[in-house]
Amino acid sequence: MKKIKVLSIFGTRPEGIKMCPLIKALEKDERFESIVCNTAQHREMLDEVLSIFGINAQYDLNIMKQGQTLVDVSSEVLKGVTAVIKDCSPDLVLVHGDTSTTFNSALAAFYEKILVGHVEAGLRTNDMYSPFPEEINRKLTAAIATLHFAPTETNKNNLLKEGISKENIFITGNTVIDALLSIIDDELVFEQPMLNDINYNNKNIILLTTHRRENWGEPMENIFKSIVKLIKDDDNIEVIFPMHKNPSIRTLAHNYFDEFYGRIHLIEPLEYVEFANLMSRVKLIMTDSGGIQEEAPTLGKPVLVLRTETERPEAVKAGTVKLVGIGTENIVNETKKILSNKDLYDNMSKSENPYGDGKACERILTKISKYFSQY
Ligand code: UD1
Ligand code: UDP
Repeated sequence: MKKIKVLSIFGTRPEGIKMCPLIKALEKDERFESIVCNTAQHREMLDEVLSIFGINAQYDLNIMKQGQTLVDVSSEVLKGVTAVIKDCSPDLVLVHGDTSTTFNSALAAFYEKILVGHVEAGLRTNDMYSPFPEEINRKLTAAIATLHFAPTETNKNNLLKEGISKENIFITGNTVIDALLSIIDDELVFEQPMLNDINYNNKNIILLTTHRRENWGEPMENIFKSIVKLIKDDDNIEVIFPMHKNPSIRTLAHNYFDEFYGRIHLIEPLEYVEFANLMSRVKLIMTDSGGIQEEAPTLGKPVLVLRTETERPEAVKAGTVKLVGIGTENIVNETKKILSNKDLYDNMSKSENPYGDGKACERILTKISKYFSQY
């Protein structure tokens, strides 16, 4: 039987983390021929992911530039992916999530009349500017895609509301759980000695990440002011902040945090195995990341989300994730509340995950194969 030729495209760290297990599964499965295109919208942060999972991309567009704009990324992806599709003529293009790589790759496939499958489909806030530009990237990708792999029932319902045919929406769980379960290791020794020396049991160790475009400027300053206030008010708190590579975030972080050296640990982005295992050891996570909201419930770690909305309401409903907004006072109060109230903390630390059981990749491949067997 003729193999189904699948071109998987990704470009940023979270897309890589969530697509790598799927690509591994495609590579092992005789029904498929797997081709990989890395736009390299991210470079170092994504290369680390590929090396952990042992993925080699046949196509690497190498588009990342320091300080790139949305237009830079979009135009480079559109041109580069079009050339890749012309070169390898896939039966199906798989894209993931909500980035500029995602939407522009889907658009390139549409212009070449190639079928698109959207992994992690159907997440919505219904606010076009938050997350920006991800909400619209998701909606436009859904309008182009034929196959929609929705992590949850809520995501499926969002797609149904937009008129997507129910026959083409498949609830699969999120592939990030497949990735996460493959790398958790309680014995892991961190590469940086400082991370091994931290007193995880007796101190309140907070893991911080922030990068979202809608938080650039005043919201991020508010977030950093909250961290400073928490550090000043409570001697028992330490913060670990693996800083996103975006230079503007790093400069601001150094301005606010350098004087608290020893209590606020500013470090490079961690490679995924280290980061996931760090999440499982700290007391609390504060973040504006999307993926971390999905991973933390599996690890039983409370997450305070530094945003005014989330496209991941399932984790909020499950109780592990709480939206605390971007105002200094509320962030500080909510953090103190959870650190001082054991019942509240224990309640948020339940490890039930609404995002899946680690079998999302298997389900996606079954649905793709079934779809193509009709023709
Ligand atoms: C991008 C995605 C966002 C996703 C995030 C995950 C878009 C519009 N944004 O945002 O949806 O949540 O990735 O992290 O698609 N940089 C490096 N090395 C790297 C990666 C980034 O130096 O490996 C620096 C570069 O200066 C680059 C800048 O970070 O220009 C911004 O990268 P970009 O992909 O444009 O935006 P992100 O904020 O990372
Ligand atoms: N992550 C990582 N190293 C870090 C910070 C995050 O490997 O230093 C992982 C994290 O576990 C999650 C993903 O990166 O799987 C989230 O990426 P990011 O926050 O950049 O993007 P988002 O999910 O918000 O799109």
